[in-house]
Amino acid sequence: MKFYFAPLEGITRYIFRNAYEKYYGGIDKYFAPFISPTDNCFLTPKNVRELCPEHNQGIKLVPQILTNNSVAFIGAAKELYDMGYKELNLNLGCPSGTVCAKKKGAGFLTEWYEMEQLFDSIYEWAASNNVQISVKTRLGRFASEEFYDILEIYNKYPISELIVHPRIEKDYYKGKPRMEFYEYAVEHSKAPVIYNGNLFTCEDIIKRSETSDTVMLGRGLLYNPELIKQNNAFDFQNFWSFHDKIYHGYQEIMSPDKNVLFHMKELWTYWKEIYPDEGRAVRNILKTKSYGEYEAAIRNLK
Ligand SMILES: Cc1cc2nc3c(=O)[nH]c(=O)nc-3n(C[C@H](O)[C@H](O)[C@H](O)COP(=O)(O)O)c2cc1C
Repeated sequence: MKFYFAPLEGITRYIFRNAYEKYYGGIDKYFAPFISPTDNCFLTPKNVRELCPEHNQGIKLVPQILTNNSVAFIGAAKELYDMGYKELNLNLGCPSGTVCAKKKGAGFLTEWYEMEQLFDSIYEWAASNNVQISVKTRLGRFASEEFYDILEIYNKYPISELIVHPRIEKDYYKGKPRMEFYEYAVEHSKAPVIYNGNLFTCEDIIKRSETSDTVMLGRGLLYNPELIKQNNAFDFQNFWSFHDKIYHGYQEIMSPDKNVLFHMKELWTYWKEIYPDEGRAVRNILKTKSYGEYEAAIRNLK
């Protein structure tokens, strides 16, 4: 079975990816969190820092682009091509209100005419440059049934992989994935379909492996970084090495304490599952305001 690491904005940055690869590994492709090019700025210095090959060595990385604009997509794609990327992903799933209001991400899923125009341009560019473009999609904006028409559009283009997160925009990340529409995608998509959504336990993955040979995992790998290892006992020492690599990595590229701690605390909102009986100790971590306080708080768990 193949495993893809889902893009998680603000979390699966290059510092995190490198640490995960070093201490866990087993990932066939990492999808970078979205970049949002505009007509006149394709890649920001921060995008370049995140995606440059020097910061992603030994990692199979797929950059993700969030736009509804072919000039912005192709402009960013060309710069990424020059950095060595021959595979890109288009985000048609982001449910954030501000993104959808601009008709991007899941907000673009109702704009079928504009979608075909975008696809005409980007797949023409991709074909003449030998680049593959995959799509990460939700089922629709307002109703799952939109997916029947959306899939018809997708089937007109050489989408390299169709990653389906079977929810609609308003589901956000809550509730159960709408599996009957995922099954519909598997049956009717011309592109290979990859499943994404709510795979949190080994049992979830084993069940999915009956019909999917590749899955994309997101939060499951945060709740349990060993999710795909199926070890008998959780290796806490390895987890802390992983933690330290991220913590020190962030300290090197961010300042002051507040920024680093913000990112570490976001991880602890998931990592608290590693310490289910230590609610109080984890809450203390979430309250810390300086490196000194943070280090004292994690010492209680280490
Ligand atoms: C904090 C957070 C950030 C996310 N950022 C992105 C992103 O940049 N691009 C994207 O396509 N999806 C993004 N997603 C969605 C995930 O990639 C994934 O589709 C979703 O979490 C469902 O998979 P999971 O249940 O395995 O986590 C994000 C989700 C979360 C919770």
